[in-house]
Amino acid sequence: METVVINITTEYEKALEKSAELLKNGEVVGIPTETVYGLAANALCENAVKKIFVAKGRPSDNPLIVHIAKFEDLAPLVKEIPEKVKVMADAFWPAPLTMIMEKSDRVSNVVSGNLPTVAVRMPKSDYARAIIESCGLPLAAPSANLSGSPSPTNAKYVYDDMNGRIPLIIDGGNCEIGVESTVISFAEEPPRLLRPGGVTLEEMTALIGEIVVDDAVLNKLEEGAVASSPGMKYKHYAPSADITIIKSDFDCFKNLCESEENITALCFDGEKEKLSCKSVTYGDENDGYSQSARLFDALRELDELGAKKVYARCPNTKGMGLAVYNRLIRAAGFKIKVI
Ligand code: TXA
Ligand code: MG
Repeated sequence: METVVINITTEYEKALEKSAELLKNGEVVGIPTETVYGLAANALCENAVKKIFVAKGRPSDNPLIVHIAKFEDLAPLVKEIPEKVKVMADAFWPAPLTMIMEKSDRVSNVVSGNLPTVAVRMPKSDYARAIIESCGLPLAAPSANLSGSPSPTNAKYVYDDMNGRIPLIIDGGNCEIGVESTVISFAEEPPRLLRPGGVTLEEMTALIGEIVVDDAVLNKLEEGAVASSPGMKYKHYAPSADITIIKSDFDCFKNLCESEENITALCFDGEKEKLSCKSVTYGDENDGYSQSARLFDALRELDELGAKKVYARCPNTKGMGLAVYNRLIRAAGFKIKVI
């Protein structure tokens, strides 16, 4: 299959026309969102959704997020809309925020991975919503990487993984947020945070009160434990390098990196110049959003550099930092050293 790329920033009408035609025909299209690129297909058509699992090489028990363009599109997908979801949608949507509810019968078990619930998101990206509106369908979409690869933050990375596997990729430039959406479940009370992302725990708690943070957000799942979110039990992207997070100030970090041979540092902006070893930066120490925008790219760069052993500066876990920490600790195989 030939994979065509259309740039929506320069060929807006053509991008919408072509994506709508393919999506209505039950095909899979790579689409930009503000978080990461998605592999989209008609969420109401089982055969279309099955093609996503094939293109991505994804285990069938790992459910997909359904993307909508307006609030009215939510009701048909769920049994009922909990009051807190209305409040959250009103305050945040469109946003990097996915909310889980009991599903309606219209949502197939292929989408929900046989769970009784469905995850729904209204993306903030104007391009993503325009694509959904122009085909007139709710779109099931996981991140547009092969299972086990990093989530793609630009169209080239989607092409690298999906060339020959899907007919069309819509190029909307770099993703603003750079890590996947916040996932929170309202299928239980109090609501449970399953994955931190661009809408922060603090912002949500200020609005709706108590939220339980699932164990898997910060810790490794015990062998044999049941994951609240099936995605959490699968291996996440880690560069080939062996990464350890170092919880310390910069001076101790620098001493450690320079006391050993062949260390590559994963550090904050402005620190590269102060280190005598090889290094890759991943954003401003005090700005979680600048870290999230850079993180997956920085991890890819470590591989390109052929890094073998990496020491990483530790992000703080407040605000957007929680999402950054959650991805980095997985890339590090949960190895953290406090000095
Ligand atoms: O930002 C994002 O969320 C991107 C863009 C494309 O929207 N999508 C994305 O999808 O990251 P994916 O499939 O890579 O991650 C979705 C996560 C998985 O860990 C999955 O297990 C979980 O959400 N999930 C989906 N439906 C669920 C459900 N009903 N119950 C529990 N977890 C669910
Ligand atoms: Mg993913």
